[in-house]
Amino acid sequence: MQIFLDTADVEDIRTYAAWGVIDGVTTNPSLIAKSGRIFEDVIAEICGIVDGPVSAEVTALDADGMLAQAEPLAALHPNVIIKVPLIPEGLKATKELTRRGVKTNVTLCFSANQALLAAKAGATYVSPFIGRLDDQGERGMALIEDIVRAYRNYPAFGTQVLVASVRTGEHVREAALAGAHVATIPPAILDEMVRHDLTDSGLAAFLADWKNARTAADS
Ligand code: E4P
Repeated sequence: MQIFLDTADVEDIRTYAAWGVIDGVTTNPSLIAKSGRIFEDVIAEICGIVDGPVSAEVTALDADGMLAQAEPLAALHPNVIIKVPLIPEGLKATKELTRRGVKTNVTLCFSANQALLAAKAGATYVSPFIGRLDDQGERGMALIEDIVRAYRNYPAFGTQVLVASVRTGEHVREAALAGAHVATIPPAILDEMVRHDLTDSGLAAFLADWKNARTAADS
């Protein structure tokens, strides 16, 4: 499973990219707004840090407007993925962007039927938002399981399942077990994933033993 970082904070992106485990980055209008920076500048800077897909979302609600916004974004860097909302106009824009050879991430997916339509439109990625489904009392991961299963029935679909709205390390574990292609993960969840109490206590014990042995050898 590929791991994308779900943030528009370039300092965080530098930090976690240095771990060597980040395959790409996703942003959305809320994350860009939080950065307080100019959209295009942030996307271009991220592309200079991570050598992989970087999602940049359009905000127009009609297909022509989405295509107009997509053009300069796609021109920023070959790794830019145009993120469009899962609405009829977004499907139209996806179909046309695919025809033009531009990669897409169809976002705000909350049902398997929506994911089927995204695949039919030729989306490169579909982003089901599992945390937001959990928030309203559903099991978001069931949607990932359904989409992965449905897509497997149709090998001609080239769309990859990109698990979004990830809130816990457990979400990542379950996404991998479900066979999702990608999970986009907020920095705090990567911290949660890397840590284990037994790693910390084991390392402390190793270092203490090593120090004691060196002290004994030196005396
Ligand atoms: C990423 O592509 C999504 O925009 C993001 O994961 C949404 O996460 P949220 O539901 O925590 O805002």
